[in-house]
Amino acid sequence: MGANVYITKLIPTVGIEHLKKHCETIEVNPDDRVLTPEELIEKVRGRDAVLCLLTDAINDKVYEAAGPQCKIFANMAVGYNNIDLEAAKKRNMITTNTPGVLDDATADMAWALLFSAARRVVESDAHMRSGKWPGWGPLQFIGQDITNRTLGIIGAGRIGTNFALKSIGFNMKVLYTDVVRNEELETKLGAQKVSMDELLKSSDFVSLHTPLLPETTHLIGEKELGLMKNSAVLINSSRGPIIDEKALVNALQERVIAAAGLDVYELEPKAAEGLLELENVVACPHIASATEETRNNMALIAAKNITEVLAGRPPLNPI
Ligand code: DGY
Repeated sequence: MGANVYITKLIPTVGIEHLKKHCETIEVNPDDRVLTPEELIEKVRGRDAVLCLLTDAINDKVYEAAGPQCKIFANMAVGYNNIDLEAAKKRNMITTNTPGVLDDATADMAWALLFSAARRVVESDAHMRSGKWPGWGPLQFIGQDITNRTLGIIGAGRIGTNFALKSIGFNMKVLYTDVVRNEELETKLGAQKVSMDELLKSSDFVSLHTPLLPETTHLIGEKELGLMKNSAVLINSSRGPIIDEKALVNALQERVIAAAGLDVYELEPKAAEGLLELENVVACPHIASATEETRNNMALIAAKNITEVLAGRPPLNPI
């Protein structure tokens, strides 16, 4: 294939190797930083395909710069809120994502955040490292039980379902909200589909698994946080803007809820003012899919979507 492909940032080698086998020219942004909008526009010019990331804003200006010969923008992520799909449609541009391969890694990470926040793992680790631990004490770092409690899933799609199914060993009552019924969760876990308000009021742990859409932006704000139990823990491994982060900081400061475990932020790479000073927050830098196997799979799938389309076949994962 005499194709010319651009990759917007270094990705796992397996993806680059796959493209090298099938395409003539591959250029990779060699810097470990996101390209500016202007740089992105310059770099995509005249390419046949672009492998992009969730940190790249792919809009009509970018498609226009790429040109009519460009067939595909393959996003190396399952989320695609960085892509203007309307503009893609108008220009007949194929866009793809990487669903399926990161469900386990993301759900595992949501559990890691839940455990860390509920059992104060990060806070107590910092205390241990400070050299100030005086020895065992009956009142130190009191956290919360996880077993036998109520788990609330907001968004019971692939990742939400995977996360919920992993609760089986903890004998939890599972509640969920979604636009559609999830028979798998109901059959396997006896999960109940409830209203958002009921879920927020009744859950000990609330975990967010919705895509970022206009309707899910600030889905959790002051009102919703106010409905949650004072002892509740909020987990977000989906997209930052689903939570009104300022409202979350207030709720955590005022102990409206007990704690939060976050992997994503409203304005990445920044976190809202005050958030990172709070002891009742576990904050990770958007690493839910960051396992070797998962990132390799994501890179390979994005690359395969490109080679399929350039070979005149349908993409594996059209959005
Ligand atoms: C995604 O794929 O959307 C994650 O946020 C990063 O892996």
